[in-house]
Amino acid sequence: MIIETLKLRNFRNYENLEIAFDPKLNVISGRNAQGKTNLLESIVYLSLTRSHRILNEKKLIREDMPFAEIRCTFRNGEESRELGAVIHPHGKTLLVNRYPVKKSSDFIGLLNVVIFSPDDLYLFNDMPKERRKVMNQEITKISSKYLLALNRYQNFLRERNSLLKNHSVDETYLDILDEQMAKEQLLIIEMRRSFIQRINHQITDLYHELSEDDINVNIRYKCCIDEEECTLETLQNMYRTCRSRDLENHVSTSGIHREDMIFRIDEKDLTQTASQGQKRMVMLAFKMALLKYIRSETGKSPVLLLDDVLSELDMSRQKKLLEMVNDTYQCVITATEIPEHMKNVHYKEFYIHQGRLETARR
Ligand SMILES: Nc1ncnc2c1ncn2[C@@H]1O[C@H](COP(=O)(O)OP(=O)(O)O)[C@@H](O)[C@H]1O
Ligand SMILES: [Mg+2]
Repeated sequence: MIIETLKLRNFRNYENLEIAFDPKLNVISGRNAQGKTNLLESIVYLSLTRSHRILNEKKLIREDMPFAEIRCTFRNGEESRELGAVIHPHGKTLLVNRYPVKKSSDFIGLLNVVIFSPDDLYLFNDMPKERRKVMNQEITKISSKYLLALNRYQNFLRERNSLLKNHSVDETYLDILDEQMAKEQLLIIEMRRSFIQRINHQITDLYHELSEDDINVNIRYKCCIDEEECTLETLQNMYRTCRSRDLENHVSTSGIHREDMIFRIDEKDLTQTASQGQKRMVMLAFKMALLKYIRSETGKSPVLLLDDVLSELDMSRQKKLLEMVNDTYQCVITATEIPEHMKNVHYKEFYIHQGRLETARR
């Protein structure tokens, strides 16, 4: 997958921006607070139909402007597409080849990107909800069925929770909801399990490739049910077992909305043992494993976005990372300073100053 052009109108601090990317390596340079991350954010938006930084989309619209617009053209082998998003204060319109699409499931997965930014390190210590979000977001990139099952599950969950708030609960209706929810969970658990297996297959090797540190990295899937026995029947039993507790607490206490993924180093919870440097390398290895996962599941290479991360790695790791990416994934990097060792590497530079593209220094 190669992003060819990107156009922004009234997005964040950009009034008008047009960029033609290099098919391999791109460097967005500029001082702090000039719009480098904003530019990557616009690409993420076309991948996920939302920002990776904020929930309130109004903030994406340039101050005092009525709407923001993002457009990009990208290529998969011979096939080209144009994606667009118009963000208004009360919603958004998504466009594929200039035609509006109604469902985000028809849009997500067309352009796949993986972004790595320094804030990703918070994920390890964050609430389980944030790690579930990552699981959902990444699996959704390879399967619209997963997204649809997840949306249906969440609707049933809302319904079930509001039913449980009542003084006297209609248990026949609860039975129906439990059966529906069990059905949706079957696919979700299966795909989460396979996702984690695939990541685990790669992550230690990728970690070793990036750093000399000889440790074992893996992710434990904290499933709501004994994974080996995950059937429609065992899932329905799970609901039966927790029903009295749910009625007492007025909320659904079990299910895929309570799951988690635990990052581990040598079989121990990473948050208990890892140094900051190890955490950074684990996250980087996870991102590299995600690239491979998406590529092998979809047959298309996602685009890698590296936001301000080179400066946090020592030189040998920076070089290693660029080597690993080179030729397989198109890459867009942001940096305040371009490292010396990149002198001999081919890349296209875009110098950003106050939301404007200025002549590159090279
Ligand atoms: N909706 C908006 N309208 C105008 N400017 C904005 C908007 N949102 C963010 N900005 C500006 O964008 C700049 C930050 O851009 P960012 O991409 O995060 O910087 P960096 O180059 O350091 O990555 C700030 O100057 C901020 O004021
Ligand atoms: Mg930034």
